[in-house]
Amino acid sequence: MLSIIKKSGYLCKKFHDMLEKIQALLAEIDTLEAHSAEDIEALRIKYLSKKGSIPALMADFRNVPAEQKKEVGIKINELKTKAFDKINSLKAAFDSTDTDADDIDITRTAYPIELGTRHPLTIVRNEIVDIFSRLGFSLAEGPEVEDDWHVFGAMNFADDHPARDMQDTFFIEAKPDVILRTHTSSVQSRVMEHTQPPIRIICPGRVYRNEAISARAHCFFHQVEGLYVDEDVSFTDLKQVLLLFAREMFGEGTQIRLRPSYFPFTEPSAEMDISCNICGGEGCSFCKYTGWVEILGCGMVDPAVLELNGIDSKKYKGYAFGMGVERITNLKYQVKDLRMFSENDTRFLKEFEAAN
Ligand code: DAH
Repeated sequence: MLSIIKKSGYLCKKFHDMLEKIQALLAEIDTLEAHSAEDIEALRIKYLSKKGSIPALMADFRNVPAEQKKEVGIKINELKTKAFDKINSLKAAFDSTDTDADDIDITRTAYPIELGTRHPLTIVRNEIVDIFSRLGFSLAEGPEVEDDWHVFGAMNFADDHPARDMQDTFFIEAKPDVILRTHTSSVQSRVMEHTQPPIRIICPGRVYRNEAISARAHCFFHQVEGLYVDEDVSFTDLKQVLLLFAREMFGEGTQIRLRPSYFPFTEPSAEMDISCNICGGEGCSFCKYTGWVEILGCGMVDPAVLELNGIDSKKYKGYAFGMGVERITNLKYQVKDLRMFSENDTRFLKEFEAAN
């Protein structure tokens, strides 16, 4: 009997000691503070690690008499949760203070933003458009995905003209004819079909032809089309405008010459050469030692084209011209390989920084 009393007395004491300890720890945890990651880790070790005070209490838990186990168990769990939460909240607070304030230097200059450069074709296209804008031409654009009518029909191509051949044209759908435009002359038709003269437009854009890609040919390239339709337009006007353009683009000393040619949409037609601006007309490999390089096609708008597009050919006349932007860029910057234009190699593009 005595031993039982002794034992229960001992157990009773144990129970009170434990409750006191738990109570003390609960209060202590409320007051915990940390100033570094190390502080937090030390607290974790002190309270929660295997040898920490809370697991030690839990080990002691088995000595608590059965009647009190429930009460003590609830308290220990409360303590454990509180310690976990406290340490986690210290961690969270420390993490968020860790990065700002101390680490951010608001006086430091911003990282420089790397600026890109304009693509050489864009530079040259803008320059061409700019020159013609100053001569009173306004900008017009049309779709790259076109129909047979605007690319060929309205431009007076005969039904069996070889340019309609599958060899040259990319077809999106065979019927109805949806194609990628092979030249910007289609924009002439797009504008004439809803505008009456005077029309004075400059039309830059991308065109597509089914060609094998090489240094000298590509399946897409860029053109600029010009069209002027009015009551009194002559071949002399055309020649004068083109001479002005050539001199603005390639320099005052530039000479031009016109050679007779053929296009379905102009009559008469010509191709225009400029004195080679690489060798100054002396003869070099670029101009094949002739001193001249071809830069565009031109002519008086065929009356049939005016009629096909709803313009009275008895009242109005016009001239038109079309040039390749890649060709003009090659002449200005001597880019030997056409593929460079579409490879997006920044080392190549950076070479045109000064021209931007
Ligand atoms: N469309 C022609 C081509 O792609 C270029 C051209 C030649 C356009 C003569 C014209 C022109 O407006 O009159 O080769």
